[in-house]
Amino acid sequence: MNDPGYRVLDPAELAAAGALRQFSLDVLHGLSEKPKRLPSRWIYDGVGSELFSAICELDEYYPTRCEAEILTRHAPEILGHTGTGPIDIVDLGAGDGRKTSIVLTATLKQKRDVRYVPIDISQSAMQGLVKDMRTRHAGLAVGGLVGEYFDALTWLSQDTTRRNLVMFLGSNIGNFSKVQTRVFLRQLWEALNPGDLVLIGWDLKKDIDLLLDAYNDAKGVTAQFNLNLLARINRDLGGEFDLKNFRHYATYDVYSGAVESYIVSMVRQSVAVRGLRISFDFDEWEPIHTEYSYKYLQSDIRTMAADTGFEIVSEYEDSRRWFTDTLWRVTKEKPRA
Ligand code: AVI
Repeated sequence: MNDPGYRVLDPAELAAAGALRQFSLDVLHGLSEKPKRLPSRWIYDGVGSELFSAICELDEYYPTRCEAEILTRHAPEILGHTGTGPIDIVDLGAGDGRKTSIVLTATLKQKRDVRYVPIDISQSAMQGLVKDMRTRHAGLAVGGLVGEYFDALTWLSQDTTRRNLVMFLGSNIGNFSKVQTRVFLRQLWEALNPGDLVLIGWDLKKDIDLLLDAYNDAKGVTAQFNLNLLARINRDLGGEFDLKNFRHYATYDVYSGAVESYIVSMVRQSVAVRGLRISFDFDEWEPIHTEYSYKYLQSDIRTMAADTGFEIVSEYEDSRRWFTDTLWRVTKEKPRA
């Protein structure tokens, strides 16, 4: 074959290289700062995602079971609010897709024109999810989109003949700061058409001991999950972290309403990261902040809906009132003629 003299770069290769560069920058930035911090989104490589699935099975980690209870009980009613026409069930952050499956099972029973549209930045995660969902739900129409959430949603909304039901489950929203949450919701509102619906999972404020137990489980799975940040720096960036010299620590801030997770250096040490050609110094008992998991009151959530352009359709809670899924509708005034 003739050499055309140029090469079109493969988007998947570009995305992987871009992610590694961003990871390097976040590590360099976060471990050079005082106080040190690392964004929790980097926990989720293959190992971290498996550890998160294991967390969801733990006795102490209630959110997954609470949300499954809500969806099992209310999925038909939730779907009823989408009318009778064609719908796209848009899944942001599907994870292993178990909770989404509860809604999809209900949809298939209703014999509606339904398409399942997961959105994910990672092509390999998308391949796995689509394969899995097709196996679980025979005959399901799937139209996954690999890309950034809001690019994909804006593209999807050009087709106004299909109503969108966007799902952002599992209290993933709790890992955003309050400002990030507002910005996220506003972008969601901008990207959607009037009448589209969003279903969001929020973890509610509750007894502090329950919260602390959920993030400090007896088997130490959450500790392993958090420490996977350092393990991933070792794997992907040539880091030399000795995990035995660090521990997981999670606490609850009653003012902000967030469980805050940290990795704490138990000794004074210097750790090289060969890929970054740098060493980072740690004092004994120096923390690295890794994650916020915000807990909400229903009243905070209602204010958030009103401030960002959504009308509340329904609020669903589990029997213990520990978790809520809220169904909101996008309202937009028609531009004046
Ligand atoms: C994914 N996210 C909503 C979980 C949470 O509860 O913040 C991640 C997690 N961190 C520790 N345990 C679970």
